Amino acid sequence: MVKSAEFVKSSPDYRQSPKADRAEFAFIGRSNVGKSSLINALVNKKDLAKTSSQPGKTQLINHFLVNGNWYLVDLPGYGYARVSRTSRYAWGKMIKNYMLQRENLMNVYVLIDSRLEPQKIDIEFMNFLGENSVPFSIVFTKIDKQTPNKTNSNVATYKKELLKYWEELPEIILTSSEKRLGLDVLMNSIKGIIPYYQAQE
Ligand code: GTP
Ligand code: MG
Repeated sequence: MVKSAEFVKSSPDYRQSPKADRAEFAFIGRSNVGKSSLINALVNKKDLAKTSSQPGKTQLINHFLVNGNWYLVDLPGYGYARVSRTSRYAWGKMIKNYMLQRENLMNVYVLIDSRLEPQKIDIEFMNFLGENSVPFSIVFTKIDKQTPNKTNSNVATYKKELLKYWEELPEIILTSSEKRLGLDVLMNSIKGIIPYYQAQE
């Protein structure tokens, strides 16, 4: 399905990102949730996006061009405890600007570790997206690390939590980069949205 994927650029903010002239999809979530791993699994290239067991590996906005046609974006994670208040603030500003100003951004995939209870920081981030009408989907990661029953019960808990704030639930996708699960569903989600992209003048 993916014929080619290449690294294009790392940028400190959306203004310095590549020209917004094609459909773009961004991966975001807590540090270490598996954003870079999922990008690599999706495009079937082991080391395209840099991964690490140390949280905070991805620091810039990284653009990858897929099939010469659309952008996949690896964003720095949030919620990494060992960063200063100043850099957390800078992260927030950079990400918020990117989410609100990047005109070719078609959908945001918010990655959530399938093993965890709903976390305030993720809920707040999704509420921010929803309040600003930024379209997003939820991608649960690392489902290989527990039984399907446990994953399903965690997802059910998450849905319940989100329904406290919202009437409708976003698209929910279950994945494992390690075992290559859910990748076709994720790719179909992206492919289903690409046709809605309209070039800006
Ligand atoms: P930052 O760039 O630091 O924000 O992290 P990230 O979200 O990009 O996470 P990354 O892809 O670097 O993965 C973090 C760790 O989780 C690495 O040790 C990965 O090997 C591991 N990991 C990622 N996805 C999976 C998965 O599906 N299953 C398992 N078992 N491990 C995974
Ligand atoms: Mg990363």
